Amino acid sequence: SSHSSLCSYEQYKETADWLLKHTSHRPKVAIVCGSGLGGLADLLDNKTAFPYEDIPHFPTSTVTGHAGQLVFGRLQGQECVCMQGRFHFYEGYNIHKVTYPVRVFRLLGVEALIVTNAAGGLNDSYKVGDIMLIKDHINMPGFAGQNPLCGHNDERFGVRFPCMSDAYDREMRELAKKTAKEQGCDSFLQEGVYCMLAGPSYETIAECRLLQMLGADAVGMSTVPEVLVARHCGLRVLGLSLITNKAVTDYDSSEKANHEEVLKTTKHRTQDLQKLVSEIITKI
Ligand code: 6GU
Repeated sequence: SSHSSLCSYEQYKETADWLLKHTSHRPKVAIVCGSGLGGLADLLDNKTAFPYEDIPHFPTSTVTGHAGQLVFGRLQGQECVCMQGRFHFYEGYNIHKVTYPVRVFRLLGVEALIVTNAAGGLNDSYKVGDIMLIKDHINMPGFAGQNPLCGHNDERFGVRFPCMSDAYDREMRELAKKTAKEQGCDSFLQEGVYCMLAGPSYETIAECRLLQMLGADAVGMSTVPEVLVARHCGLRVLGLSLITNKAVTDYDSSEKANHEEVLKTTKHRTQDLQKLVSEIITKI
C-alpha cells in the first residue's frame, strides 16, 4: 500500500540538512534532466556532485544503468541544483520515491523547478526535434491510483487537495517563449499538453489515437509525479519536452517507437535545449 512506502518529513529534512552541510551552494532553482539531457549539469561552474547512493535516504537504483547524481553549482551565475538522472516509476520505484528529491529541493530553499524530458509527439503538426513547452498535463497513472500525493498529507509541505489548474507557471512559459525567440529557436518551439503513461512499453497505435482524442500533444513516462509534488509544496514549475519521435497512429506505417531514435534526436537538439534552459535561468 502507499502507506508503508510514505517518506517522513524527518527523512526529507535529514537529507536536506546533510546536503546543506556538505555544500555551500544555496540553489533557488532545481533542474530535472531528462533522458539524454544530463549534459546540462556538466555546464555548471564550481560544481559539487553527490552520487545518489551517498545521499542519506535518497532512492538508489537497484537495477543496472547509470545511478545518477545531484549536481550543485552556478549556471550563468545562478545558483542551481541538477538531477543528473531521474527516478522513473517503470524502473520499479514506488511513486513516493520517484518524487523524493522534489521535497528535498523545497527544504533546501529552492523556489522554482525546471523539468525536462524526452517525449513522443502526438500532435500531427509537431516535428521530431521540436521543443514543447508544457502548458498542462494528463496524469494517466493518477487515474489508476498512482498519485504521489496519495496517503497521509503532511501540512508542512502543502494542503490535502492542491489545485493543479495552474501547475505550469504562465510567467515562466512567457519567459521561455521570449528567450526562445531571442535565440532563434522559436521556429521549433511548441506549447502543448503532456500525457504521462507508466511505461515501460511504448503505446500501441490504438492507445496513441486515444491519447490524441483526449487532447494530448506529447506522451512520455515521467515528469508528472515530480510536478504534482512540486506544486503541492509551492514550487513554480517550468516543463520542457523534447519531441524525440512521432507516436505511430497509422496501421499502414512501418515506423516503430524505439529508444535508439529517442537518444539520437536528443543528441541532435541537446545543445539548443541546454542553451535555452541556461538563458531562462538567468532571468528567473
Ligand atoms: Cl512514443 N512514448 C512514450 N511513452 N515515451 C516516450 C516516447 C513515446 N518517446 C519518447 N519517450
